[in-house]
Amino acid sequence: MMPLKNTCSIPSLFISLSILCILPLSLFFFHSSTTPNPQISLQTSPNSIKVYIPDLPRSLNYGLLDKYWSLNQDSRIGSEVDNEIRKTHVPNSSGKFLPYPENPIIKQYSAEYWILGDLMTDVKLKIGSFAKRVFSVEEADVIFVPFFATLSAEMQLIVNKGVFRKKDGNEDYERQRMVVDFLKQTEAWKRSGGRDHVFVITDPVAMWHVKAEVAPAILLVVDFGGWYKLDSKASNHSSPDMIHHTQVSLLKDVIVPYTHLLPRLPLSENQKRETLLYFKGAKHRHRGGIVREKLWDLLINEPGIVMEEGFPNATGKEQSIKGMRTSEFCLHPAGDTPTSCRLFDAVQSLCIPIIVSDNIELPFEGMVDYSEFSVFVAVSDALQPSWLVNHLKSYSDEQKDRFRRNMALVQPVFEYENGQPGGIGPISPNGSINYIWRKVHQKLPMIKEAVIREKRKPPGVSVPLRCHCT
Ligand SMILES: *[C@@H]1O[C@H](CO)[C@@H](O)[C@H](O)[C@H]1NC(C)=O
Ligand SMILES: *[C@@H]1O[C@H](CO)[C@@H](O)[C@H](O)[C@H]1NC(C)=O
Ligand SMILES: *[C@@H]1O[C@H](CO)[C@@H](O)[C@H](O)[C@H]1NC(C)=O
Ligand SMILES: *[C@@H]1O[C@H](CO)[C@@H](O)[C@H](O)[C@H]1NC(C)=O
Repeated sequence: MMPLKNTCSIPSLFISLSILCILPLSLFFFHSSTTPNPQISLQTSPNSIKVYIPDLPRSLNYGLLDKYWSLNQDSRIGSEVDNEIRKTHVPNSSGKFLPYPENPIIKQYSAEYWILGDLMTDVKLKIGSFAKRVFSVEEADVIFVPFFATLSAEMQLIVNKGVFRKKDGNEDYERQRMVVDFLKQTEAWKRSGGRDHVFVITDPVAMWHVKAEVAPAILLVVDFGGWYKLDSKASNHSSPDMIHHTQVSLLKDVIVPYTHLLPRLPLSENQKRETLLYFKGAKHRHRGGIVREKLWDLLINEPGIVMEEGFPNATGKEQSIKGMRTSEFCLHPAGDTPTSCRLFDAVQSLCIPIIVSDNIELPFEGMVDYSEFSVFVAVSDALQPSWLVNHLKSYSDEQKDRFRRNMALVQPVFEYENGQPGGIGPISPNGSINYIWRKVHQKLPMIKEAVIREKRKPPGVSVPLRCHCT
């Protein structure tokens, strides 16, 4: 996939031999100047994964967009741009070419839209896609569930937040039930227990009522925030340090990027950065976010550090663009969940991420090496007075330039946008969509094993879920 110096896919012995001859020379010449590539090569590169899409009603995917754009207006902060679009949008007339919401609260989770858009693309246009759509379950490696779970949840929060955690009168709950009930009566689900089904569940509140039911499937999530609480309840707090993943696990699930909200800054346009460290966001957060509050108090009066609260609207966006483009480092502390789209905005802004979030999970690990362009700091260190500032000051200009060059190489990897109306059309071979499907492809042997193992169990036998993967 990525042309990398370690890739060994040379077919003929002759070429291998000549490479062996050239290699020591090139090592001699380039050894001192090469920097590791933050994109790591994969030894075996199959060229596709076969994906079947069950026939769910349109009301569970693009129909939700019809509904969103047909709303009179959304009064929540961040909806200004969408309210403008609504004024010109003729409800339901544009059919399949509906944009995803611009409201940052929703847009950051738009993976569902881009992944389905790629799968819906006419096969003649699908030149760069790793996912190949097949039209029979028998041929498929995995079954992709075309449910816009994030949009379904957010629609309910807009229309009637009060019933979100209830079932009565909750349209989001009804949609979740429709999806799960539909799938469970299919042969495909029955033969695998759902293990080879792929759900996009990026918003931590998406699929709220059926998380346990979809747990056997391959879940595309931004992190494990929102799942911890359920899991730790089930595990009876036997050990506070170990996360009992009976619903989510790095073994079967795939961490996907947030959709970045700030425009990309190309390396060629990078300018001198006067601020040492930048952070914009809410000071107060729940759970893991206590760290954020403590850090805030420690850093707020330090010279060279900008900490600001902001709003998720156009004013806030301008503020972030300026802050992230004029600072060397961008702080990424845990919030309500271990991650946020701030990390991906920092990468697009070429601001070196400082990650203070001990149990963070990141997309495409093993394919992207974050330590080549980010700084990871233990929460315990960051909370010591002056530690963080001294640490950041210890990086030389050369090191920071190297981080930024490496970051520029991974900017396209965290890109979903394909510039196509409705998100349907050719995608970049180097973008997030293909990285996601390659990650799913890596899980296949393990899933096949689990399905076969499950099949041999005599009727009535039930083994408790026992994945305790840390
Ligand atoms: C557009 O679609 C939504 C959802 O399918 C529906 O509720 C609404 O009535 C439709 N509007 C028009 C003008 O047809
Ligand atoms: C939780 O642990 C307590 C004490 O070890 C035990 O009595 C109780 O039955 C456990 N509950 C569950 C649901 O396993
Ligand atoms: C963003 O929100 C803040 C707080 O409500 C407001 O003061 C500001 O004018 C808003 N900016 C825009 C462009 O709407
Ligand atoms: C994909 O990445 C490779 C190597 O980084 C680059 O040569 C190629 O131009 C990229 N393709 C696109 C469409 O961005």
